[in-house]
Amino acid sequence: MTAASPVAHDAAGQGAAGGPPVRRLADWSAARLRELADEYGTPLYVLDRDRVVANARRLRTAFPDAEIHYAVKANAVGAVLSALAGAGVGAECASAGEVERALDAGFAGEDVRYTAVNPPAADLDFVVGLGEDLTITVGARDTLDRLAERDWTGRLCVRVNPGVGAGHHAKVTTGAAPKFGVPIDRAAALAREASSRGFDVVGLHAHAGSGILEAFDAHHELARRLGDLTRAVEAGDAAGTGAGRYGGSDGIDLEFVSVGGGFGVPARPEESPLDLDGVAGTTREALGAVDARLAIEPGRYFVADAGVLLTRVNTVKPTPGTTVVGVDAGMGSLLRPALYDAHHEIRSLASDVADRETIGTTVTGPVCETADVLGRDRELPRPTRGDYLAVGTAGAYGYEMASTYNSRPRPAVVALGGETSGSDTDDRGAREDSTGGTARLAVRRETLDDLVRLER
Ligand SMILES: Cc1ncc(COP(=O)(O)O)c(C=O)c1O
Repeated sequence: MTAASPVAHDAAGQGAAGGPPVRRLADWSAARLRELADEYGTPLYVLDRDRVVANARRLRTAFPDAEIHYAVKANAVGAVLSALAGAGVGAECASAGEVERALDAGFAGEDVRYTAVNPPAADLDFVVGLGEDLTITVGARDTLDRLAERDWTGRLCVRVNPGVGAGHHAKVTTGAAPKFGVPIDRAAALAREASSRGFDVVGLHAHAGSGILEAFDAHHELARRLGDLTRAVEAGDAAGTGAGRYGGSDGIDLEFVSVGGGFGVPARPEESPLDLDGVAGTTREALGAVDARLAIEPGRYFVADAGVLLTRVNTVKPTPGTTVVGVDAGMGSLLRPALYDAHHEIRSLASDVADRETIGTTVTGPVCETADVLGRDRELPRPTRGDYLAVGTAGAYGYEMASTYNSRPRPAVVALGGETSGSDTDDRGAREDSTGGTARLAVRRETLDDLVRLER
């Protein structure tokens, strides 16, 4: 496809960091999305690389001297990773697969962190085999032992369980969940032990949870506790900065202290965008004075509003309570509504929406599960079979969580833009909403043959 009408046309609110603070579903051009659906079929993820890079710029502006790593789990498609490699951020990876994809996309080993949560042996073998450039974050003493067994004593970060968490849903509220990190009152001792066993202890880390939009209290409390711990680890017993509380030690020179990700992106039109500058300021304040550099590792913030999911109406069924609108994307394409009750705006892309009456609908997928609902109680211009619908803020944890459940092939992904990607992060934000013209297939649609390809 050649350059055509702009895919998004929000001219308002171009901030110093480039672009509006959030791109709403209404900001995408219906005509262009229809063209893409016609050309590439549905269900189809559309990802705007320029918006991803603009979001990186926005984060950099709010956190000018912090280390920023992109949490790859939010969207590991190569078109996203290659847009961010070289854009002044590193990659935070949750598995060997993510590490490999990040390196393939052009991230340097020293910019990659592997956060080992209950790591399978194959993951450890793989990352250890890469040498000592990348940083491994451990959340258990066991993992330290397993790394030592593999003769690896490279750059190590200790993940702390801060005892507080936050998030848009209980299932993504991580901070206090025992699965994650070393209890904070044991973390200094583990860092000291790792250091004395020859590991290069470079950082401390905690993550409160995902999708935090308003209630930042827990996030600040996390930063405050991490600040105390960092001062204790940095200073050892001598400075009396809380070392006694967390277990005294000889001081360790830490490079960074990571307060994790979790920065929310509003899904509903009435929700305000995050005041990123405000959050940055209060995070620093809560952390207090530390020698280590502040680090953050957002995922969602980079990609959520850079993506939409396009789907087509298969079935329109009036029922007493609602009109059921059956579409070709369901929980296999976008799991978040079924898994987290997550809200995604849904918009009709029909060209004659102004002439249609608005009706109450329930938008459901094609999977044989009651949970397979993309949106309940949605007011839509009366849908008809063959219409395209767009599902908003679908760039994060969308394609990444797609599955072939019910033996339905996974959707295709088309990438837009890219002209402002890579190291080109100067003040060109205004272009992000006017250059989405160039589209290319980033991930082809799975086929029925793909579904059985691994069977023997
Ligand atoms: C350790 C860690 N860091 C960063 C993130 C990114 O979170 P978000 O996408 O909400 O910014 C996650 C998400 O689960 C995580 O587990």
